[in-house]
Amino acid sequence: MADTILRVDALSKNFGGVRAIRDLSFDVAAGEILGLIGPNGSGKSTTVNVLAGLLPPTSGSIVLGGQSIERMPEPQRVAKGLARTFQTARVFPEFTVRQHVTIGCHPIRTVNPFASILPLGAASVDDDETAAHVDDLLRLCSLASIADRPVGGISSAQQRFLMIATALAARPRILLVDEPAAGLVEHERQELAELVRGIRKRGLAVVIIEHHMALIMALCDRIVVLNFGSKIAQGTPAEIRANPAVIDAYLGEAA
Ligand SMILES: Nc1ncnc2c1ncn2[C@@H]1O[C@H](COP(=O)(O)OP(=O)(O)O)[C@@H](O)[C@H]1O
Ligand SMILES: [Mg+2]
Repeated sequence: MADTILRVDALSKNFGGVRAIRDLSFDVAAGEILGLIGPNGSGKSTTVNVLAGLLPPTSGSIVLGGQSIERMPEPQRVAKGLARTFQTARVFPEFTVRQHVTIGCHPIRTVNPFASILPLGAASVDDDETAAHVDDLLRLCSLASIADRPVGGISSAQQRFLMIATALAARPRILLVDEPAAGLVEHERQELAELVRGIRKRGLAVVIIEHHMALIMALCDRIVVLNFGSKIAQGTPAEIRANPAVIDAYLGEAA
């Protein structure tokens, strides 16, 4: 398929005797919002961690824009266009929101975030184009009004949006987000949904892990369902909602 941005083929990941991902295959198209759902412990975060390069796969292949990346270190994958956010916010509390997003602009330089503090302090390395890019992302992610606040003082919902803005700073083609709505209230979830749609409008693909089923069903073009590390279904939200195996393994319990 010409517009396939990411192809995952026969991916497996074992932790000792635990088979966290088993023979998992799926594609993601440019401009697609793909949901990854399943019960706790079904391998969702492990999938994101293996795709992003935090963990080596036990076997299988990952092809990003036609290039095999499964042996590439994480910063190189980011530079090739694959970015992710973490399930729990990982932020540098002393940085301002704007500085934090700026860090994300330089995935290779900031392999070690502590090594990057000095270059960032000498902010001259960040030119006008970078500043305009960061301003654009601050607006996209509803962070412009708090751009100069220290990250440690913003709300947890704002930190969640900040993680997305920081991941977007590297200009990815595909963004992986792990449980972005956890702990958000309804109007924040709506804002998150609008943001994800805005990201897609820019031509990016988004892979979203989320337990909030109303959000997943409203947002996703397609959904992949995991159970015990295996894909048990994939399809449109309507197909997934009506799939007996999915209801049995997951939706029954979630509903
Ligand atoms: N670093 C790790 N070491 C050992 N086992 C792990 C590790 N990470 C995840 N697991 C195990 O892999 C399985 C899948 O976990 P995870 O991917 O976090 O599930 P999910 O995100 O769907 O809740 C679980 O059995 C979990 O205990
Ligand atoms: Mg998880």
